[in-house]
Amino acid sequence: MNIYALLEHAISTDKIALKEELTLQCLAYCNQNEVSTGDTFVPVRFTSPSYASRCTIVDPRKLPARKDFDTNEGLATLIHAIAHIEYSAIDLALDAVYRFPEMPLEYKIDWLEVAHDEIRHFGMLNALLESVGFEYGDFPVHCGLFDAADHTAESVLDRMAIVPRYYEASGLDVNPQIIKKLENKRKNPAVATLMDALNLIYEEEIEHVHKGDKWFKYLCEQNGLDESVYFDILERYKLLGKHRPHINVNARKEAGFTCDEIMKLGAKQCQ
Ligand SMILES: [Fe+2]
Ligand SMILES: [Fe+2]
Repeated sequence: MNIYALLEHAISTDKIALKEELTLQCLAYCNQNEVSTGDTFVPVRFTSPSYASRCTIVDPRKLPARKDFDTNEGLATLIHAIAHIEYSAIDLALDAVYRFPEMPLEYKIDWLEVAHDEIRHFGMLNALLESVGFEYGDFPVHCGLFDAADHTAESVLDRMAIVPRYYEASGLDVNPQIIKKLENKRKNPAVATLMDALNLIYEEEIEHVHKGDKWFKYLCEQNGLDESVYFDILERYKLLGKHRPHINVNARKEAGFTCDEIMKLGAKQCQ
C-alpha cells in the first residue's frame, strides 16, 4: 500500500478525527509490512501549517503576555499554548514518516506511534480547553515548529537532531516547571486536570525524545559521523548557546543524552 497519499492528507487536514483515522490506517499497513512509495514519489513541501485555517498565526514576539493562571482566561491561554504544541507535534511526527521514505519500517512505525500519542495529548488538552469555555483557535499562535520542520525538510539527520532531540527535549526541561507553578492552584479542578495531563504527557515525551535519539544515532552510524555532529547541527540552526534556566538532567539521560552532552547544553552538574 502506498501510504504517502494518506500521510499527505493527514498532514494537511485540520480535522483531528481524520488525522487519527489516517494515522491508524498507515500504522496498520506498516505493521503488516505493506508499504511502498511508488516510483515517482516526491514529497510536497507544505507552505503553511494545517492549523492555519483555525488559528491566527503571529510572530512569537507578538504573542500576548500570558495572564495570571488564577483567571479563567489566563488558564485558558496556558492550556491553548500547550494544546498548540501538541497539535503541531502531530503534523511533525507524520511529516517525519512522509518526507523520508528511505528510512526503515521500524522508523515509520515509531513516528506513527508518536503521532498517535500527540493526537491523544491534543485531545486531552482540547477537551479541557472546551471545559473552561474556549476552543482551539481562540488565541493567536506561532508557527515555530512548522518552520523547524520546513528548515529540516532536506535532511533526516537534521530533522532528528532539531525536532525531537532539540525541541521535544526542551519540552522535558519546561514541563516540570509548569507543573511546579500550578501546584498551589490545584484546588481548581481545571488546574488539577491540567496537571494530570502534563504528568502523562511528560512520561510519553521522554519516549518520543528517546525515539529521536535512537534514529539520530542510527543515522550517525549509517553516515560514519561522530555523534558530536549534534552540536554542529545546533550551531548551524543557531540554537547553540541559548540560555536554559532549567535543564532536566534525569529526563534527558533517560531519553539517551550523555552527561557530556547535557553539560555542554549548560547543566551545572550531571551524575
Ligand atoms: Fe505530546
Ligand atoms: Fe512528542
